[in-house]
Amino acid sequence: MPHTAVPPSSPWLIRISEIFGDALPELLGQFAASSSTQLGHEYYLIRPTDPLALRQTAAAMFIRWQIPVQHSWPCNPRAMLGFVEKAAQALARKFAASQPQMLLVGVLDPSSADTYYRKLASNLRGRALQLFPVPTLAPTEVEAQDPDAATLFCLLGNEGLFCGVQTPRLANGFYPGGTRFISQNAPATISRAGAKVAEALHYLRLHRQPPPPPDHWLELGASPGGMTSELLARGYRVTAVDRAPLHPRLAAAPGLTYVCGDASTFRPPDGTRYAAILSDMNGPAGDSLAAVLRLAKNLLPGGLVIFTLKTAGVSSSEEVQRLCAEVTAWAAGGGLRLLAQTHLTYNRHEFTLFFEAFA
Ligand SMILES: C[S@@+](CC[C@H](N)C(=O)[O-])C[C@H]1O[C@@H](n2cnc3c(N)ncnc32)[C@H](O)[C@@H]1O
Repeated sequence: MPHTAVPPSSPWLIRISEIFGDALPELLGQFAASSSTQLGHEYYLIRPTDPLALRQTAAAMFIRWQIPVQHSWPCNPRAMLGFVEKAAQALARKFAASQPQMLLVGVLDPSSADTYYRKLASNLRGRALQLFPVPTLAPTEVEAQDPDAATLFCLLGNEGLFCGVQTPRLANGFYPGGTRFISQNAPATISRAGAKVAEALHYLRLHRQPPPPPDHWLELGASPGGMTSELLARGYRVTAVDRAPLHPRLAAAPGLTYVCGDASTFRPPDGTRYAAILSDMNGPAGDSLAAVLRLAKNLLPGGLVIFTLKTAGVSSSEEVQRLCAEVTAWAAGGGLRLLAQTHLTYNRHEFTLFFEAFA
């Protein structure tokens, strides 16, 4: 499938969570960025000396999402007469020949209560698709994209329009900006952590398919049960281990076995094999990983591990990178191959690491 080549001098649009605002100069230094302009709250337009640094340096784990910027229109869209038509015509001129698998338009400030740019994004996408139809996928099939085929991603906001062609895997997300919106306010939400595992399962599809329901998950550090309820809602069976109790609403949940106790001493019943382990335990990362590696012997071949790497108390971004490298090396020694490590939108001071058991 043809797609537009990225000139080495292209600027890149990268997203780094506001949580890491203090570490930004240090991170940009690691990417050898010669200049940077902030767009919205979390986006930066930068010129790295070597764009591979955005994926290959240890600091890349802080980048939620990234695209090369092959077309930009710095302007105030609100004040620009005929913005949608002019922008759509430019997209058609520049990108129709690259035959993207999908055209997705997002907003630079997704947390804003103002819906103006969300509506403008939807109008721009609609008009651009009239000018150069992208017939492969229905508009709702964002996660059915081929992670390795090119997508035209566009972001717009107060600062204008920024677009580039990138594969979802290299962009680090299927959605513009990487985030699929997950409501954390629904009455059924038990804890904020539910959104983390929901996002992790969407993100995982960039690298492999999640286990099919009703496969069996072992969950370590499950209380009060936000993640447990997300897994159960997807039709999985779950063995949830925690020293603290689960929310009473989960008491008689079908498919759930709750074990009150310490993960470091939990023994699965004889012959039990899990399709996946989910660990969201707080406390030192080494202790959590030790429990996971001991229990990884009970994974099926190719079994999945989703591990929240807690970084509370770690003071610099370089220390976080070191911790992550240590955890990854230790996991490899215990038979777990790293698939991906990232800071998901619903993570706070923590990263999500995805591993697969190898024989
Ligand atoms: C961030 S909370 C988990 C939130 C949970 N995943 C959810 O979805 O609601 C961390 C949990 O890890 C548990 N934990 C920490 N170390 C543990 C251990 N060694 N064994 C069992 N539970 C542990 C704590 O009791 C606490 O409930």
